Amino acid sequence: MDCLLCSPVLYVFLIFLWYLVRVLLNRCLPFPPGPRGYPIVGNLKLKNQLSHRGLAELAKQYGGLLHLQMGRIHIVAVSTAEMAREILQVQDVVFANRPANVAISYLTYNRADMAFANYGPLWRQMRKICVMKLFSRRRAESWASVREEIDSMVQTLTEQTGLPVNVGELVFALTRNITYRAAFGSFARDGQDEFVKILQEFSKLFGAFDITEFLPWMRWFGNRGFTMRLENARKSLDGFIDRIIDAHIEKKESRQNDDDGLDDDMVDELMAFYSGENGGDLSNDSQSSSLRLTRDNIKALVMDVMFGGTETVASAIEWAMTELLKNPHELRKLQQELADVIGLSRQFHESDLENLPYFRCAMKETLRLHPPIPLLLHEAAADSVVSGYSIPRDSRVMINVYAIGRDESVWTEPNAFKPGRFMDSKAPDFKGSDFEYLPFGSGRRSCPGMQLGLYAMELAVAHMLHSFNWELPEGANSGDLDITDMFGLTAPRATRLIAVPSYRLKCPMVI
Ligand code: HEM
Ligand SMILES: *[C@@H]1O[C@H](CO)[C@@H](O)[C@H](O)[C@H]1NC(C)=O
Ligand SMILES: *[C@@H]1O[C@H](CO)[C@@H](O)[C@H](O)[C@H]1NC(C)=O
Repeated sequence: MDCLLCSPVLYVFLIFLWYLVRVLLNRCLPFPPGPRGYPIVGNLKLKNQLSHRGLAELAKQYGGLLHLQMGRIHIVAVSTAEMAREILQVQDVVFANRPANVAISYLTYNRADMAFANYGPLWRQMRKICVMKLFSRRRAESWASVREEIDSMVQTLTEQTGLPVNVGELVFALTRNITYRAAFGSFARDGQDEFVKILQEFSKLFGAFDITEFLPWMRWFGNRGFTMRLENARKSLDGFIDRIIDAHIEKKESRQNDDDGLDDDMVDELMAFYSGENGGDLSNDSQSSSLRLTRDNIKALVMDVMFGGTETVASAIEWAMTELLKNPHELRKLQQELADVIGLSRQFHESDLENLPYFRCAMKETLRLHPPIPLLLHEAAADSVVSGYSIPRDSRVMINVYAIGRDESVWTEPNAFKPGRFMDSKAPDFKGSDFEYLPFGSGRRSCPGMQLGLYAMELAVAHMLHSFNWELPEGANSGDLDITDMFGLTAPRATRLIAVPSYRLKCPMVI
């Protein structure tokens, strides 16, 4: 006998009903609070507020979850630890996509990279390769390039003692050298200047404001100049990286079996997953059989490493030096610790790091006040509800790490540089489970290069503080040291730091 309860139709109907109720409920829920906008353009006049500081200001008025309508795009800004947990942990799968505008899509070969790929199988594969192959502690070459380039920078500094040094430019050159070497090995060292120019143009294009992103119909008015610049930038990158990839293919073919893989750079590692121009099988490498990368993937991944690893680390080092020169008593405290632990008769060595707790807290404090990536950019893959508000699909969710790190309901004296606060064993850690402190993000999309980045930062600053004393050039005093930052993908100092090193150790100045 047929009973109604056993009928599959009933279940289908119930599921449909449940779905309908959900959709209707979502429709009825309001967006998070935010300033009123005009029809069509919405809050577009606030476009200059879309920086970490602008959004922090708005959050004071509208709260930890606020909504802006920019033309056709919904923007949600998150400014408290509690809301960040909601986005990055509780509903992490919904918010695991990245937003990308026309420029970003075009310059990343239609999101063939990891940083801008949508959450899914391709992203997962590339993330696995990066975490296990490129940035892993086991890949000694990456760490060796950090060490060697820092040694060479210390050498440069010993030749400039007593003179004003542009610390900002020095550390940017340092991290560019590190990532360039890690990615391409000793290969094409002479091409570096050309590559730096390409990177700078990319950086500008990534950050350029493009009105058609928010108001697509503006495309009618055309923007030939911008499109041309995009095409030219990608053409120069193609020219540069294709040469390098071809050389790596040749190298691989010429040394088939006796390959010890010892001096492999990142492109070598990626070539192991290369599937040839048409996706055909080049090798029968057993471990790589399921993962296949195209040439575009490799190019875009190399750009990720360049962008992810260069400005972030340089900005962190420059900010650390700036805060220490601004707070001379903290500088003295750190140098005293270095003298106590290492003594003044030898250079700093990386094995000393574990005996330098106060120094490491000062690095954490730097990343709290000046997170190199102040806004985490995520995108909603589906309609969702956060804290009773509706967040529609494709909304851009910006997590304001800068504002969260300076939230006065969590941090005492939030704007002061006080490394001591991290000495407390209950102090937050950057592993991503303490949402009041997120310099490397949290969850699926968190920074895969965290260990490598921290290593470079700690090593560089420790060397600079142990081998040298630092002073501001004559006429400058620590009180008026400028601490404004610039806003792009990263937030480095607006002006470069200039300081005068003098040699501090009792051993000779050689490494
Ligand atoms: C002090 C240094 C660094 C800081 C503060 C930093 C911070 C971050 C942050 C905040 C994110 C985004 C997290 C999110 O959206 O939730 C990120 C992503 C990323 N970082 Fe880093 N990073 C650093 C160094 C590096 C280095 C050295 C590399 C590579 C060599 C790197 C490669 C990447 C990549 C590829 C992503 C994108 C990951 C994805 O979307 O799946 N980072 N980083
Ligand atoms: C970076 O590399 C270039 C070229 O090898 C070198 O001239 C420069 O001194 C290096 N810079 C630093 C800061 O190590
Ligand atoms: C790969 O393996 C297949 C069979 O497993 C074999 O026929 C083919 O020749 C191999 N290709 C190379 C390049 O070794």
